[in-house]
Amino acid sequence: MNTPIADFIARYVKSGISRLHMPGHKGAGAYKDDITEILGADELYSPDGIILESEQNAARLFGSRRTLYSTEGSTQCIKAMLHIALINRRDKVRRPVCLAARNAHKALIYAAALQDFDIDWLYPEGGALSPCSCPVTPEALQRKLSSMGEKPFCVYITSPDYLGGMQNIRGLSEVCHRCDIPLLVDNAHGAYLRFLENDLHPLTLGADMCSDSAHKTLNVLTGGAYLHISPRAPAFAENAKDIMALYGSTSPSYLILKSLDEANRYLAGDFRRELDECAKCVKSLKKTLSQRGYRLIGEEPIKLALLTDGPDAAKKLRSHAAEPEYIDKTCVVMMFTPQNKREDYTRVLAALEGDEPSESPALAGEEISKGPAPERQAPPAPGRRLTIREAVFAQSETVPVSQALGRICASPTVSCPPAVPICVSGEEIDQAAITALNQNNITEIAVVK
Ligand SMILES: Cc1ncc(COP(=O)(O)O)c(C=O)c1O
Repeated sequence: MNTPIADFIARYVKSGISRLHMPGHKGAGAYKDDITEILGADELYSPDGIILESEQNAARLFGSRRTLYSTEGSTQCIKAMLHIALINRRDKVRRPVCLAARNAHKALIYAAALQDFDIDWLYPEGGALSPCSCPVTPEALQRKLSSMGEKPFCVYITSPDYLGGMQNIRGLSEVCHRCDIPLLVDNAHGAYLRFLENDLHPLTLGADMCSDSAHKTLNVLTGGAYLHISPRAPAFAENAKDIMALYGSTSPSYLILKSLDEANRYLAGDFRRELDECAKCVKSLKKTLSQRGYRLIGEEPIKLALLTDGPDAAKKLRSHAAEPEYIDKTCVVMMFTPQNKREDYTRVLAALEGDEPSESPALAGEEISKGPAPERQAPPAPGRRLTIREAVFAQSETVPVSQALGRICASPTVSCPPAVPICVSGEEIDQAAITALNQNNITEIAVVK
C-alpha cells in the first residue's frame, strides 16, 4: 500500500527548499518532517490530494464508506459523529435525545453541550464493576427503546471500555436498525479489532459510525484517530469533513498525519500476523496470572485488566520497571501491542507472579479466584435540573464533594484516564451521587453557582 503523505514529506525534506512558511522551527533537528499545509501537502479539511489518497487507503483497510483522519484524537471524532447524526435526524421538531450507555467518555458530554442535545442513559442491569463499565444487552436496549416516547437520534455505545469490556455490537446494531436508529460506537480502544483473525471491529459488526483512537492501539503518534462512516450510512459522509473542521485546529500536525499514513502500509502488511502473536502472548500471560489467583476482567485480547488492589499492583510493576495504563482502588489495566517486547511480558510476570495477589478492597474477605462475583456499583441516576448545555455554560465553582448535596453538576470534572463522568452536567447531586463520588476517590466537584 502506498504512503503518499510520508513520500511527499520525504521529497520536500530532500529538496532543501527554503522554508519561508510555518512552523517556526523551520525543520531544525528532529523536526524536519513537521511541515504545514504548503503547496502539494493538501488540506486536512478539504482534501483532494495526498491526504484524500491516504484516507482512501485507510477506508479500504477498514471497509468503510469514508474514513476521516483526526489529529486531535477520538475526542474530535466523537463530537463530529454526534454532530453528523444530529443534523441527519428525521425529527427536527422535538428536542433531540441521544440514548447512551452511562460509561461514556466526557467527549460525549462536551458534544451535548456544544450541540445542545439531551442524553437519556442506559444503565447496567444489576450494576457494574466500575463507572468505566456498563454492559447493555440487545434485549435491554430493545426494552428501553420501546419505553421511550420519542425516538433518540442515535444510540451511543462505548466498546471496548477502559477495562477491556466489549459490548455485543452485532446484537445492539440489529436492534438499532430494526428501529431505524443509527448506532454510534466510541471505539477509541479498538482500532486494532479490524485486524484480528475474527474481525471484531464495530463497523464490521453493524455500527453506522465509529471513532477509533489509532494512537491507542496502533503504531500511530498520540492524537492520531479515525472517524469511520459505514457503507450502510452514505448520507453521513456528505458534510463530514466540514463538521470535523468545526472541532479541529486549522494547523493539523503533519507528524501525526504521516504516522497515520505510514500505519496503512503496516496494517496492510505484517500487522495481522504480529497482532495474532501479541494476542497469544497476552493470552498466555492471562492464563498464568489466573492460575496464580488473579481475577481477570474484560474480553479484549490485547488488554490485561486485573481486579486487584490497583495502587499495590502499580507499585510492584514499577519496581520491575513497568508502567501500567490505569489503576484505581480495585483494578489495574495494562495495554499491549505488537510493539511490546518479550521483556515487557516477563516483567509483568516477575512483578505479579512472585507475590500473592493483593485483594481489592471490593473483594476483601472473598476467595479471589473462586469466590463470589465481585461487588458491583449501582451508578447514580440523579434527576436532571438543567440541560447539559445550560449547566456547562453556567457560572460554576468547585466545592468539596461533602458540600455538594443538592447542588447541580456543572462541567464533568473528571481527569483522564478514564474521563468517565460519575455525575453529568445538569444533574442534581443526590446522596447516591455523593456515595459514588466518594467510592471513586473524587473529592471536589464543579457545581453551578
Ligand atoms: C473510551 C474513550 N473514549 C474516548 C477517548 C478520547 O480519545 P482521544 O484521547 O483519542 O481523544 C478516550 C481516551 O482515553 C477513551 O478512553
